[in-house]
Amino acid sequence: MPGERFEWEWDETLFAGAAAYYDRGRLPNSPGLANAFEDTFELDGQGRLLDVGCGPGTVTLPLAGLFREAVGVDADAEMIREARRLAAERGLMNGRWFQRRAEELPADLGRFNVVTFAASFHWMDRALVAGIIRAMLERPHGAVVHVDNRHQDSLAPDDDHPAPPIERIAELRRAYLGQNRRAGQGIRNSSPGDEAAVFRAAGFAGPELVVVPDGRTIIRSADDLVAETFSLSSTAPHLFGDRLSQFECDLRRLLAAASPDGVFAVRLPDNELKIWRVATP
Ligand SMILES: C[S@@+](CC[C@H](N)C(=O)[O-])C[C@H]1O[C@@H](n2cnc3c(N)ncnc32)[C@H](O)[C@@H]1O
Repeated sequence: MPGERFEWEWDETLFAGAAAYYDRGRLPNSPGLANAFEDTFELDGQGRLLDVGCGPGTVTLPLAGLFREAVGVDADAEMIREARRLAAERGLMNGRWFQRRAEELPADLGRFNVVTFAASFHWMDRALVAGIIRAMLERPHGAVVHVDNRHQDSLAPDDDHPAPPIERIAELRRAYLGQNRRAGQGIRNSSPGDEAAVFRAAGFAGPELVVVPDGRTIIRSADDLVAETFSLSSTAPHLFGDRLSQFECDLRRLLAAASPDGVFAVRLPDNELKIWRVATP
């Protein structure tokens, strides 16, 4: 198994083939996300947003209307193409999209009022990127926002449909790809911790926490769960090589066995915004 020989380091296959599945497959953020940003930062449509590791614009697109300009940066070319396509489909006129690694910023992009990281910071050279971003913030009020999910004890859906069979999907992944979680050409079994220490060392103060409530129960089809699986770095399509169709067949068989009518229910966690501001000496 080639992935078991070395640890993860960034390479361009990390999300290869995942972008097309992302918008459909990933769980939505809270519908209150944009209002929470508007209220917290008293946005008046004049500032600039930078979304780092924007993927297909998951956070950039719903927030763009609150800013004069919204800039999405992602290392993956397919993600940037998908963000452009979704922006056009949604009639968004003030978005700009760049294929760049976060480590290559500031890349002449200028200063920003709000910089977001959503499910992306852990993939980066965090100390380097935090330092770069600090210098890209408007002073004195610019802020970095880490958009996260709030971990909640009771997220079991409370209606008649089963929850997605996450553990059985993980077993199938292991049967195809081995015990380790694959990431690009390497492996990555855990995410780095202590993000707060990284931000503090880079000269930020915080975090202030804002909870954006959700708790909706949504219905997911087997197609949605297949899309979710292929949107993840650990089961991105490129990892399966010529066994991709076989994996998809086995996944669909597993999902059909778990819910004969092909429908699953998921209770959505709240979002949590962790806000970091430049520390004043
Ligand atoms: C899990 S996705 C999150 C996408 C989006 N922010 C969201 O909320 O769904 C992580 C994204 O980070 C991007 N990424 C990973 N390492 C990166 C880096 N060093 N610089 C820029 N983007 C990076 C990946 O290409 C991917 O699109």
